[in-house]
Amino acid sequence: MIDPFGRRISYLRVSVTDRCDFRCTYCMAEDMTFLPKRDLLSLEELDRLTTVFVEKGVRKLRLTGGEPLVRKNIMHLVRQISRHLKSGALDELTITTNGSQLAKHAAELADCGVKRINVSIDTLDPAKFRAITRWGNVEQVMAGLDAAQAAGLKIKLNAVALKNFNDQEIPDLMRWAHGRGMDLTVIETMPMGEIDADRTDQYLPLSQLRSDLEQRFTLNDIPYKTGGPARYVEVAETGGRLGFITPMTHNFCESCNRVRLTCTGTLYMCLGQEDAADLRTPMRASEGNELLAQAIDEAITRKPKGHDFIIDRTTRRPAVSRHMSVTGG
Ligand code: GTP
Ligand code: 5AD
Ligand code: SF4
Repeated sequence: MIDPFGRRISYLRVSVTDRCDFRCTYCMAEDMTFLPKRDLLSLEELDRLTTVFVEKGVRKLRLTGGEPLVRKNIMHLVRQISRHLKSGALDELTITTNGSQLAKHAAELADCGVKRINVSIDTLDPAKFRAITRWGNVEQVMAGLDAAQAAGLKIKLNAVALKNFNDQEIPDLMRWAHGRGMDLTVIETMPMGEIDADRTDQYLPLSQLRSDLEQRFTLNDIPYKTGGPARYVEVAETGGRLGFITPMTHNFCESCNRVRLTCTGTLYMCLGQEDAADLRTPMRASEGNELLAQAIDEAITRKPKGHDFIIDRTTRRPAVSRHMSVTGG
């Protein structure tokens, strides 16, 4: 699959549910209306869709959400997809999780061939963690991290950098992560969907965080070769890796290799655009996969050049109205 800008699409991110057991203030409003369960694709349908993508050249697959581990019987889907790892058709199967249910599932994820996982954690302080997630328990996430490490999973932590919330704490979070052999990536908030807070109050440009860190640490750039959104540095004092995801100040759309599938079978060609293709209808229209494969090919021809993250100055509303949890980051 090659798009009109010559980018090879080899990475599929699948949001298996829009639900989450947390309500991070930068991600969701406290009172969210989630999709009715009857609108969700079944796990069998998600397996069928992902298999067609693998047949069409996807080599890396990430399960996201919402929180992927709250989807009922999710490990059944993980096990099904893992057959593509065994056959060599897929290079990597991975997951982005908030860690709340990780203690239960870490060993089985590893057993299915998952090697690396990304876990979101914006602060180590229990009270602040409760505040940012609206009710989450950081100890539960810690137990998940322990279980994941015990199972041999490599972990990358994600922290969204928020002005006057965790900006002062990032150095401690980084030392803590690196001390435990985990990478840390910091992320600029993206204006996606209505939340209760004013996004312009939360937004922290990472260029500022980086220069603050440079006062205290030696950051050595690692040459960019992942094709992913993060630019990594090695921190001389800790020996660990720190990533910066900067969609607002410096986008990485030129090397984009990914598309996103939602739990209702909609394919979004870009995180920061509304262009989408319905794959559920062609999938359900016949038992064979020809119509589906055609719909995917057509969608790839419409992949936009880049994202469009802006906040309208007058309405103060985000240009992208769906929440990150619909497309899974
Ligand atoms: P890899 O899949 O290994 O590249 O990791 P990742 O960092 O992309 O995965 P993760 O699920 O941890 O995503 C972290 C965050 O990166 C996401 O929540 C988004 O905020 C951001 N991100 C990932 N892909 C894109 C993208 O295509 N565009 C933009 N703007 N942000 C992205
Ligand atoms: N901007 C940036 N990152 C976000 N995440 C969720 N919503 C947003 C947003 N609006 C992050 C989560 C998680 C990852 C999947 O996306 O914290 O680490
Ligand atoms: Fe849930 Fe992740 Fe959104 Fe937090 S950022 S509410 S953990 S989906």
